[in-house]
Amino acid sequence: MTNRVVVGAQWGDEGKAKITDLLAEKADLVIRYQGGCNAGHTVVANNKTFKFHLIPSGILYKGKICFIGAGTVILPEAFESEIKGLIAEGVDVSGLKINPLASITMPYHTEVDGYSENNATKGKIGTTKKGIGPTYTDKMARIGLKIQDLYSPEALNEKLDIILPLKNKTLKEVYGLEPYSKECILSLCEKYAEIFKPYVCFDWQTVLEDAKRDNKAVLFEGAQGVMLDIDYGTYPFVTSSNPIGGGAATGSGYGPKMIDEVIGVAKAYVTRVGEGPFVTELKDETGNKIREIGHEFGVTTGRPRRCGWFDAVTMKYAVLVGGLTSIALTKIDVFDSFDEIKVCTAYKDTRDGKIYKNYPTDVFIHKYLEPVYETHKGWKQDITGITVYDKLPENAKKYLERLEELLETPISIVSVGPDREQTIFRKDI
Ligand code: GDP
Ligand code: IMO
Ligand code: MG
Repeated sequence: MTNRVVVGAQWGDEGKAKITDLLAEKADLVIRYQGGCNAGHTVVANNKTFKFHLIPSGILYKGKICFIGAGTVILPEAFESEIKGLIAEGVDVSGLKINPLASITMPYHTEVDGYSENNATKGKIGTTKKGIGPTYTDKMARIGLKIQDLYSPEALNEKLDIILPLKNKTLKEVYGLEPYSKECILSLCEKYAEIFKPYVCFDWQTVLEDAKRDNKAVLFEGAQGVMLDIDYGTYPFVTSSNPIGGGAATGSGYGPKMIDEVIGVAKAYVTRVGEGPFVTELKDETGNKIREIGHEFGVTTGRPRRCGWFDAVTMKYAVLVGGLTSIALTKIDVFDSFDEIKVCTAYKDTRDGKIYKNYPTDVFIHKYLEPVYETHKGWKQDITGITVYDKLPENAKKYLERLEELLETPISIVSVGPDREQTIFRKDI
């Protein structure tokens, strides 16, 4: 069985959930390996639209085991409302399991995230305000709470005695926010323990070992995207986890040898929500046209997404650091009415004319860079019903094949609409 990782190859919202959902059909185990409810993942199936934030999209198939992995952060209230929503839609959630090593987002995390965003005069990140950064900060500082702590009075008691004095001092003195009493946190934790109880899998090692021994197919589901990766993204305008393929090896409970393929999902253009550099951004009518046709508004926050032409410079970088073995190219149908389509093949420094073929990691110089484009002819045809590669118009095939050449990576899947059926598989997956 082939074990695959689905990775966002740009700044998120590439259509990962659609691809995960398609691949989940043939997987036995789906593991979301990082991030939290900052993600907004849309799946259109059986004439219904599902929006996931934390729960793996594989849950739509009955009988799959779906793990929320150790590398994730969980906001209890968001988890509760997501699960209730799915149950109300008639989705069978009995396969859902939470790794007890996942981290918990506490109210002070969301408060600090909101405070930092609302009060930033400089360096605003434009986060989703879901407490992601502060939760990962505490995890790395070794003062975070894990799901398993909720069921261990001893762990909770000992940890809170260390965490709370520190936390309260910071809340009061740095942020001017209200401190928390131990009683208050303990009673919250009691509530959280109830929310998670039906899903926490203390026996996760056996489940993962059995799946490995029985050669089951594992699908690793990423959130966000390579350019939002904490190590390799446009730091500091990034999220606080590792969406790259390597993140699957740390966040899932399986090591790197369990991974056979890493599918990078990329749109035929680029979008970004929040602040940060974006060399191919279009602040004109073309950008508006892409946003309108592509319905580019955030699933989690409703914010309009910034839009721009496909950027082969960042994408080639994403292939490298994301460990991509092939690409799923989505939303190519958005260009159906376009006369011309541009692709950025290099950056030019407006200060000295220097050409960058490789992605420059110092994002503070990106404001001086302008894209060098090549222009492709549009196909001016509705391609949303095409499911066979050879039936695509010649200009669409030329465009796709040029991208493969630029990225030195095969495009294994082409998506021509949001529905499961609107997909072209170029190899038998
Ligand atoms: P994710 O976060 O990467 O899972 O992506 P989002 O769900 O945030 O955003 C992708 C949006 O594009 C969703 O509304 C999808 O239903 C939609 N979508 C996915 N693939 C395609 C496609 O090939 N064409 C079109 N037109 N829409 C698509
Ligand atoms: P999916 O999985 C797009 C962005 C935020 C902000 C930055 C940091 O749907 O692709 P955070 O709340 O994580 O601290 O915000 O990252 N961001 C996303 N952008 N898609 C996402 O998820 C995102 N998750 C976070 O807008 O710029
Ligand atoms: Mg999204």
